[in-house]
Amino acid sequence: MKTAITEMFGIKYPIICGAMMWLCKPKLCAAISNAGGMGNLTAGNYSTEDEFRDAIRETKKLTDKPFMVNVTILPSVHITAEHHKMFVRVCLEEKVAGLEISGTPLDKVVGKEYIGLLKKAGVKLFHKVGSVRHAVHAEKAGYDGIYAAGIEEGGHPLNDDVTSMVLTPRIAETVKIPVVTVGGIADGRTFAAALALGAQAVMMATRFVATQECEVHDNIKQELIKRQEYETALICKSIGLQGRAIKNKIVEEVLAVEAKGGGLEQLIPLIAGQRVKEAWECGYVDSAPMMMGQSVGLVKDIPTCKDLIERIVADAKADIERVRNIF
Ligand SMILES: Cc1cc2nc3c(=O)[nH]c(=O)nc-3n(C[C@H](O)[C@H](O)[C@H](O)COP(=O)(O)O)c2cc1C
Repeated sequence: MKTAITEMFGIKYPIICGAMMWLCKPKLCAAISNAGGMGNLTAGNYSTEDEFRDAIRETKKLTDKPFMVNVTILPSVHITAEHHKMFVRVCLEEKVAGLEISGTPLDKVVGKEYIGLLKKAGVKLFHKVGSVRHAVHAEKAGYDGIYAAGIEEGGHPLNDDVTSMVLTPRIAETVKIPVVTVGGIADGRTFAAALALGAQAVMMATRFVATQECEVHDNIKQELIKRQEYETALICKSIGLQGRAIKNKIVEEVLAVEAKGGGLEQLIPLIAGQRVKEAWECGYVDSAPMMMGQSVGLVKDIPTCKDLIERIVADAKADIERVRNIF
């Protein structure tokens, strides 16, 4: 395959893993990169410089292929502005292939000068956005590409609530830098559709949770297979931190607190990071809000990353052939 993204990074397939707090660690990251896609190391998993640098070095030992690092710049109790600066500096020093920034743009938080420094070091800079206006800002600021994340996505979709189906072509027709579709992608059909919409690659996260290499309790992987596309909910809209999570007991509690006008103080104990971490590790499907996209409805098995990526590419090829025969 040849797209602007495969060319930019020298990767075999334009399939990128999205950030996943607690889950995007060296083993999963390297498995995806070794399979010809692009793995993701999520910086927020590490609270000290040593831990973060060690994780990058461990990943480099597991793969000689490129991988991305995510830095999420959203309000957080534990991750501070100092962390954001440290993460970006270490990525520069370690010369990782690319940075996925989500939330506030890098130039506004870490400083404009970093964009030039990243370019010099050959670290490609992408911003995950949910609107055309944010894509335009990123292009002007000197970013190398855009992750166009629709409302279907797991994690924190922008409260413009625009679908990937509309967002991808709108951003692709507006900016000159490559666009990657994020949200709702999990198989050959959705991959082929994103390419038809003008994307140069896709980003998936939920689909990669149900793989053999993802270090999450098996209960969670089995739960993903059972769940349908209508079984996610948007939580924390009331505190300006909209997030899409799988429906469960805690998500119902969060929604009930929000409906009654409860604020941050009441919500924090329910959404606390440690609670989420424990749920992933111990397989507690009802005890924390677990981020997940509507693409969960397309997850039906637990393959290796290599089998998954190869199947997606082969199926997409067949799907495009099928569509071509319609004309
Ligand atoms: C478990 C999980 C954790 C996530 N954590 C983050 C995060 O820390 N930072 C971020 O920018 N996006 C995060 N996301 C969003 C993904 O990177 C990606 O944008 C989104 O999930 C894509 O939609 P999909 O899950 O339908 O493929 C997370 C998603 C999931 C499923």
